[in-house]
Amino acid sequence: MEIIRVKDYETMSKKASEIVADRVKTLENPILGLATGSTPEGMYRYLIEKYQAGEVSFKSAKSFNLDEYIGLSADDKNSYNYYMFDKFFNHVDILKENVNLPNGTATDLKQACLDYDQKIKDAGGIDIQVLGIGVNGHIGFNEPGTPFTMRTHVVDLTESTRQANSIYFSSLDEVPTQAFTMGIGTIMESKEIILLAYGESKANAIAQMLKGEVTEDLPASILKNHPNVTVIADEKALSLV
Ligand code: GLP
Repeated sequence: MEIIRVKDYETMSKKASEIVADRVKTLENPILGLATGSTPEGMYRYLIEKYQAGEVSFKSAKSFNLDEYIGLSADDKNSYNYYMFDKFFNHVDILKENVNLPNGTATDLKQACLDYDQKIKDAGGIDIQVLGIGVNGHIGFNEPGTPFTMRTHVVDLTESTRQANSIYFSSLDEVPTQAFTMGIGTIMESKEIILLAYGESKANAIAQMLKGEVTEDLPASILKNHPNVTVIADEKALSLV
C-alpha cells in the first residue's frame, strides 16, 4: 500500500486526477470504478479541466459506480446517478451508454445485483477503482461487519451513515434506508485502487486502516491485502497515523 501524504484537499484532488487521467490515456479501453460523496468532487473538477485542456478524452472509457440509493430515481437530485452526471459525466466526452450505476428503482433487487456484477465481468473488470472512506471505515456502502467475500448486494444503511449523508437531504427522514453497493469481493478484484481521504473526521478510520489488523469491523482494512493500492490523504486525515 503506497501512501501519498498531501497538504490539503486541493492537492489530494489534483494528485488523484493525475493518476486517473494517466490510466485513461494509457489503457486502450479503460474501465473506471467511480465513487461519490464530497471526497472525489475535486478530482472530478480537475479531470474536467484536463478534458477541456485537451489532455484527456473519456471516449473509450467505461465507468461503474460503487453504489446507489434504493428508491431514488436517476433524475432525483440526491441520487448518485444525478451526482455523477452533474459533477462529471455532463462535462466530459464519456458516452452515456458506457456509464453504469446500479438502478435505484429496480424492482427485482437480487437480479439487479447479479446483473451489475455480470456487467463488470463482461467489461473485463475494473482497471482503476476510486474510493472514499466513511467515518466508520466503510467503503462503498459496505458497512462494518460485511463479509469480505460479498459481491454487489443490498445493504441496510447504519444510522451513522444516514446521519453523515443527511447533509445532502432536507431532513434525515428523507435519506433512504437501503442502498446497492459493490461488495468488497467486487472491489478487491479491481486491478488498481486509489483511496482518497481528507479532514479530521476521517483520521480515526485511516489510522485504524493503516495500523490495525485486517478485520470486517473496519471494511477498508481489507485493502492492505490488495497488491496495488494508493492512499492519497491530507495531513488532517493522516493526523493519527
Ligand atoms: C458514502 C458513500 C461512500 C463515500 C462515503 C464518504 O457513504 N457511499 O462511497 O466514500 O460516503 O463520503 P464523503 O466523501 O462525503 O465523506
